[in-house]
Amino acid sequence: MKIKGVHADLARAPDLVAETGSTLGRPMVLLAETSSTNDLAAMAAREGAPHGATWVAEQQTRGRGRRGHSWLSPAGEGLLFSVLLRVPCAPARIPPIALASGLAVRDAVAAASGASAVDGRPRIEIKWPNDVLVGGRKLAGVLVEAVTMGSRVEAVVVGIGINVHTRTFPDEIADIASSVALVSSASSPPPDRASLLVNVLSALDRDVHVVVGRGLGLLRGRLEQVDALKGHRVRSDRGEEGLASGIDDDGRLLVRRDDGTLTHWSAGEVHLIR
Ligand code: BTN
Repeated sequence: MKIKGVHADLARAPDLVAETGSTLGRPMVLLAETSSTNDLAAMAAREGAPHGATWVAEQQTRGRGRRGHSWLSPAGEGLLFSVLLRVPCAPARIPPIALASGLAVRDAVAAASGASAVDGRPRIEIKWPNDVLVGGRKLAGVLVEAVTMGSRVEAVVVGIGINVHTRTFPDEIADIASSVALVSSASSPPPDRASLLVNVLSALDRDVHVVVGRGLGLLRGRLEQVDALKGHRVRSDRGEEGLASGIDDDGRLLVRRDDGTLTHWSAGEVHLIR
């Protein structure tokens, strides 16, 4: 399919979704530019868009990250998309959905980059609540927003930004950002954004209902293996400190204080103390 302003490596995504049978990614709207795919998805959710509808943009003029940050991506280099989940659930299920989304991104990126556990290259990990890191640098982020009616969650928008082809970042983030291209092995083919997108959607399609029904339980083993914080000393932006000790079924970070008590952190930014 040819769409003006959308590169060929992304334009074949709808065909690829149809081949995989994923319920997420249908219908798929591909755009050369928009303000924010999360905004489009939230607006469409209020107008009745179905479960699985997905918006993908080559460029965003007001891409948003968590905690009021902006999300910048040079046109054609990143994978920027939002998928609408019509999953009736309590607000407490949003953090587990966000972590399941982060895990789907992490696994798809690891597959695309040809990463293996034994090749000596930095591991691709998840930093709670849902950043995807490689060698401590951020490669992807997830912004999950609930569309609510009163206290009821009507729909969930999962917005994902992945740095794919970028090899040089602006000075402000040059020390903290990475991309699929930068971590790919020399023998891997160049990252293909349509495949990456479809792999994320398929993994999320498989896991989301489990997480909505039962919390993170069944995913915790997989999460634990790629948890960037577990076993490290961490500090919250509220000044609390302790040893990161995993993630609970509700998606909260478990932190053991120096007095031995276990606390559950549910919000805020967490910093590794090296
Ligand atoms: C973060 O790490 O702070 C989350 C970044 C999420 C960025 C994506 S890009 C596609 C979607 N649209 C947005 O405006 N934000 C998300």
